[in-house]
Amino acid sequence: MRNILITGGAGYIGSHTAKAVAAAGWNPITFDNLSMGHRWAVKWGPLVEADLADIAAIRSAIKGNDIDAVIHFAASSFVGESMKNPLKYFRNNTANTINLLEAMSEAGVPYIVFSSTCAVYGTPQSLPLVESHPRNPVNPYGESKLFIEKTMQWLGELKGLNWAALRYFNAAGADPDGEIGEDHDPETHLIPLVIDAVRGRRPPIRIFGTDYDTADGTAIRDYIHVTDLARAHVFTLQKLMKNGGSIACNLGTGSGHSVRDVIASVARVAGRDVPFEESARREGDPERLVADPTVAFDLLQWKPEIGDLDSIVETAWKWHQAQKK
Ligand code: UFG
Repeated sequence: MRNILITGGAGYIGSHTAKAVAAAGWNPITFDNLSMGHRWAVKWGPLVEADLADIAAIRSAIKGNDIDAVIHFAASSFVGESMKNPLKYFRNNTANTINLLEAMSEAGVPYIVFSSTCAVYGTPQSLPLVESHPRNPVNPYGESKLFIEKTMQWLGELKGLNWAALRYFNAAGADPDGEIGEDHDPETHLIPLVIDAVRGRRPPIRIFGTDYDTADGTAIRDYIHVTDLARAHVFTLQKLMKNGGSIACNLGTGSGHSVRDVIASVARVAGRDVPFEESARREGDPERLVADPTVAFDLLQWKPEIGDLDSIVETAWKWHQAQKK
């Protein structure tokens, strides 16, 4: 059985991927400092509670678990926070990933699937975004991830590392079996905030910007179901293990939805009105981010299975309804 180290495996996308890795017949070993992740979300294999700043801990996790491949999620992932505290992002996302790559190299672990982001592209010059779009991040978060994409590229050329950079669009939804879901603190993401507003657990949702050049004036994103994202990691690793080499690809659905579309979808799913108020744009938010997912479709033979917005929202709604808090 293959042993897969999943850094950040206690987090939102990481835990869904641990489930997919186990379903593929592999053994997921989570490496997580639990700063954002949850012990309860580690259900499909052991947890190594440690920090990527500690290279000795990474070495021992790799050696002690006879690791064959790494899927690397552990990172700080708030664009706004990265503008206020850039060094946190270069420390956690860049420097700590160098520790991981170094420990992998020492131990001869030849495969890594890296959690990248559409933020590596910066402001879109053309849409939908294709992988060859220039990579000019407009925030330290995107820059911290781009540096690792480039580092992996060099390691591939010079040291034979087999790597993949998966550039996520907006991860959304929850495990359809209800075993895990999205639980960030603080929560900044649109869908859980809208759901909480409907449930009366938070104030009305604030729509950040109603003067965008879009049909309804609100910003457009490509929401991709977290289980579909998780499956894509398994397909990517299978592909790397079979053919080696390098992969850089978008993971999105190719469909864009506005903030008002999301609010309308939650209202349909919940069967209730969503309390909202209109407010100013949030600093640094691009108007539209939509993937061209053709590379993932062709290369990975992957397609989103929970593609339409209402189905995505429904899984999130069910999971949130089941939580006591
Ligand atoms: N939004 C609101 N009100 C809110 C929260 C969000 O109107 O209370 C809007 C945002 O302005 C944006 C859309 O809803 O237009 C989606 O916002 P999210 O915060 O859910 O997601 P982002 O698109 O900002 O962020 C996503 C990922 C990040 C990643 C980023 C890359 O969630 O992790 O894309 O650009 F860094």
